[in-house]
Amino acid sequence: MNDDVLRQAPLFSGLDDDAAGALEASMSPLSLKRGEVLFNEGDDGNQLYVVTEGKIKLGRTAPDGRENLLAILGPGQMFGELSFFDPGPRSATATSVTDVTVQSLSHEALTPVLSSHAEVALALLNQLAGRLRRTNEVVGDLVFSDVPGRVAKALLDLASRFGRKAEDGVHVNHDLTQEELAQLVGASRETVNKALADFASRGWLRLEPRSVVILDLERLQRRAR
Ligand code: CMP
Repeated sequence: MNDDVLRQAPLFSGLDDDAAGALEASMSPLSLKRGEVLFNEGDDGNQLYVVTEGKIKLGRTAPDGRENLLAILGPGQMFGELSFFDPGPRSATATSVTDVTVQSLSHEALTPVLSSHAEVALALLNQLAGRLRRTNEVVGDLVFSDVPGRVAKALLDLASRFGRKAEDGVHVNHDLTQEELAQLVGASRETVNKALADFASRGWLRLEPRSVVILDLERLQRRAR
């Protein structure tokens, strides 16, 4: 388990070593192979999770079978807390995009931590508020931005979390198929592929299987606005 990653999660904000150790002791590690479903939208849920290695996708399926991805989460990020704060079924399906390790915490074990440590409650509120802010932006982009703009924005978001600076640009190993990228952007695979090919032909990025190298960050940022 990657201890440092876990301790940097909002769940551990402001906890001293003893409290962090006690919280960590009440968590259990879980490993998933690429493509495994951790839980389905609509399931009853009584655990929340922190990703310690790999990537998880959170998605919803429409009645006609089409899928939409709400988020891709990486190390240090938490999910599964909505059904705790707003008791009800899981609001999305969680599936591993790579081999993944998560630490799980029962909702039951979270309650005493929240009552005794205001910092943890504040950190979780901060994360929820950030998520709402981001969701508002996504909704606005669906109405006001074109597909290439949304693709540029999604790539920049992935780069901010999974990017690695190198001499030739920012290497973003997003681990997503083109279908998944399209589901993240809320457009067809064809339209998203066309936007990516256009960015590549302009020299803004280089496409690689399940990753992209951003060669001209400034242009991509301008296209995302
Ligand atoms: P829960 O509803 O328990 O299970 C699905 C989880 O997906 C949910 O908790 C949140 O942690 C997460 N989730 C739902 N919607 C979003 C979103 N828009 N952005 C990021 N994460 C989300």
